[in-house]
Amino acid sequence: MTESLNQSLLALALDIAKSTSEILVNQRPENMAYESKSTPVDLVTEMDKAAERHIVQRVKDVRPNDSFLGEEGTALPPENPSNVKWIIDPIDGTVNYFYNHPYWAISIGVEVDGEIQVGVVAAPLLHETFYAIKGGGAFVLHDGVKKKLQTNSGASIEKALLSTGFGYDAERRKKQGALLAEMVVIARDVRRAGAAALDFCYVAAGRLDAYYEFGLYPWDFAAGSLIVTEAGGRVGGLAGDKLGGDWSLAANADLFDEVDQLVTKLSKKYF
Ligand code: IPD
Ligand code: CA
Repeated sequence: MTESLNQSLLALALDIAKSTSEILVNQRPENMAYESKSTPVDLVTEMDKAAERHIVQRVKDVRPNDSFLGEEGTALPPENPSNVKWIIDPIDGTVNYFYNHPYWAISIGVEVDGEIQVGVVAAPLLHETFYAIKGGGAFVLHDGVKKKLQTNSGASIEKALLSTGFGYDAERRKKQGALLAEMVVIARDVRRAGAAALDFCYVAAGRLDAYYEFGLYPWDFAAGSLIVTEAGGRVGGLAGDKLGGDWSLAANADLFDEVDQLVTKLSKKYF
């Protein structure tokens, strides 16, 4: 694959993230129509659907043969698929968006020949867009000012600020809560901010030392995982499993094994 393909995919992903941000901020209805998905607390709003339609259409306008995997259901393969696939979460942190809590993002990961090459995570209300290109480092644009991202180093878990998330199923939440109750007395502290894609970016930016969660989907981590590794961090599942198998971990490189061992031990107790 050519560097120029990756560069043009990044430019397109950044531009689409920008126009999607404008729609989600400027057209956010006061009374938003929504439906429940997997459980009554799992929401999809009219804006999740509108944003996914917009992203897919903008890609198709210029790259009609690319494939998609979208949280809100876009998965139709084109007749003559190219080697490029867009893995998109139109709003990661839908519950936050619904409540007008600013911690939500548009997440766009682009795979070429089955490997993520480009990741863009835009958080419009935080005025930040995180992005990475494979082999090219990770960056954040804050109100247009570009800064290189670098994970933290060297923290032990007792001095680490962690983050996690919960699924929408009550039985799963009971287990996640029990594991969290142990974690929070071991670590410096544990956050639950509500958007996995941004949690990955916060690890990349050194605003968190590590993140762990059971049960993510590819659109939650496609973009963010590249942003972490390009910022010098590590991602994966538990005990050598792949990222997004059952578990997803992201951490600064020094801390990853310790978090892996602890979550592995606690997962055997509660899951
Ligand atoms: C959710 C968020 C949340 C995480 C959940 C995800 P959604 O995505 O990323 O932080 O804990 O597992 O499902 O539903 O807001 O797109
Ligand atoms: Ca999501």
